[in-house]
Amino acid sequence: MRTVLVTGANGGIGAAIVGELHERGHQIIALGRDAARLEDLAVSFPRVVRWVAADLRRPEALAGLVGDVEHLDGLVHNAAVAPVASVADTPYAMWQDVLTVNVVAAAELTRLLLPALRAAAGHVIFINAAPGVHAVPRWSAYAASKAALRELADSLREEEAPNNVRVTTVYPPGTATGLLERVRAEFGQPYDPDAAGSPQSVAAHIVNALESTER
Ligand SMILES: NC(=O)c1ccc[n+]([C@@H]2O[C@H](COP(=O)([O-])OP(=O)(O)OC[C@H]3O[C@@H](n4cnc5c(N)ncnc54)[C@H](OP(=O)(O)O)[C@@H]3O)[C@@H](O)[C@H]2O)c1
Repeated sequence: MRTVLVTGANGGIGAAIVGELHERGHQIIALGRDAARLEDLAVSFPRVVRWVAADLRRPEALAGLVGDVEHLDGLVHNAAVAPVASVADTPYAMWQDVLTVNVVAAAELTRLLLPALRAAAGHVIFINAAPGVHAVPRWSAYAASKAALRELADSLREEEAPNNVRVTTVYPPGTATGLLERVRAEFGQPYDPDAAGSPQSVAAHIVNALESTER
């Protein structure tokens, strides 16, 4: 049995990860931004041993929320925002939100939880973009944030190898969630949930990776 913190726990892929971890007998710390929805999640999945309401646009608040976690087997950086806009149409505030939620909050949460991850020889999983999301016109901030997230993960992997903390980046295919539906609509593209991947299959891959470390 492992203890895993999942961000974006109420989202499409996030809730599926919570469900898959629960199904396989692991304990979950669920981080989201809506306390009422997190409470409902904990009722549905009693192995949610703790939930944390946090707006990841304000990473400075995270220390007071997770600073007491002492032992953590897994940390899944899943939360993200993905507005569709060209550089010409992306104001400073939007750059701040996208880079803060998608990158800075992940770095700060990792920093705060590293002692707990080192104590458990834990595993940090970064959910990146779909494969091939590079230099996408009108998706500049999202593409830039995910490129930064990949570099963050690659640096962290090298830094933490001596401490036995594993780091994995996952590139899910287009997956049937609210995010994909919104993005397709903003690009003027059709959205067929049946033709997209399922959040459950992404979740199964992620939990397989978390379980792949011998205990
Ligand atoms: N769906 C795809 O096709 C696809 C493909 C490749 C990669 N991905 C990646 O998979 C991950 C999950 O995406 P998804 O498709 O499951 O999207 P989603 O359903 O929109 O979930 C995103 C989650 O991020 C949370 N979030 C956004 N802003 C936040 C903030 N300021 N503070 C705290 N939480 C915040 C959302 O919270 P609320 O629930 O409160 O809104 C939501 O739970 C993302 O990293 C995405 O880039 C998705």
